[in-house]
Amino acid sequence: MRILIATEKPFAPEAVKQIGEIIENAGHKMVLLEKYADKKDLLNAVSDADAMIVRSDIVDKEVLDAAKNLKIVVRAGAGYDNVDLTTATANGVCVMNTPGQNSNAVAELVFGMLLYLARAGFSGASGSELSGKKLGLHAFGYIGKLTAKIANGFGMKVYAYSPSLARNPEIGKPYNVTGVKSPEELYEKSEIVSLHMPANDQTRGSINYELLSKLPQNGIVINTARKEVVNEADMLRIMEERPKFKYATDIKPGNHEAMAEKFGNRYLASAKKCGAQTGEANVNAGLAAATQIVKFFTDGDETFRVNPK
Ligand code: 3PG
Repeated sequence: MRILIATEKPFAPEAVKQIGEIIENAGHKMVLLEKYADKKDLLNAVSDADAMIVRSDIVDKEVLDAAKNLKIVVRAGAGYDNVDLTTATANGVCVMNTPGQNSNAVAELVFGMLLYLARAGFSGASGSELSGKKLGLHAFGYIGKLTAKIANGFGMKVYAYSPSLARNPEIGKPYNVTGVKSPEELYEKSEIVSLHMPANDQTRGSINYELLSKLPQNGIVINTARKEVVNEADMLRIMEERPKFKYATDIKPGNHEAMAEKFGNRYLASAKKCGAQTGEANVNAGLAAATQIVKFFTDGDETFRVNPK
């Protein structure tokens, strides 16, 4: 089988090497398409692929229809909002993700961004400490849980909201996390909120003015999730209204230039999404993806399938 690794943002070289070993040892062929600038290159590369590993690469109807031999796409990572699941199902393609594999890298970045904001952009101006502060985790999956563990080390008081935690607050106990009943309650109780939900019909634009205004005047929001979950106009408005409010995002918003110009070091956006961009996360997610593809072809294993059949 031809297994295409299509990564506009490449994996670390050690991950590519190890992915190649898994694929070749199982008798398949690895084809590498990295840093492609033009969608045509992806359409061309996918035309004879039996399987594909991607990251945030857009796998839309055009890509899936061009991939006549494709049987499986694995998103090496957590969020699969970049894959058109409806077309994949219609075309008989199995879509998987690799849940949890890159979570630690993202959880660590939360604190990199948070320290930058809390310490006035490392400018030398007086900042504030994390110890004793109230952190709200908006969603409580793999990344939320790891973020809670690190926050405990900083001496923060941690709250979290997720539908499952609201139903069963016991889930939070091993992480020293107090579960709350609603997003509104989370923002009312917290001084800092870190976003960890996927982008879907329920969450898109859900971090809006009403919710943000429940944070204190000097509230902080950290977004290592997806840009789509934040209402960008509302974020700009609250930052304008509250001169001490701060926002860091790992995914540049549509209004990045205006935000950067207006808010200086109260605002931070990564040059390119880098939450999962560590050698360790690339090895974990990349190897999991390669192994899942090999098992799919060997045993028909669909354990991490995310689209209906
Ligand atoms: C994920 O959903 O796994 C993260 O957002 C990482 O995305 P990336 O592989 O594009 O860095």
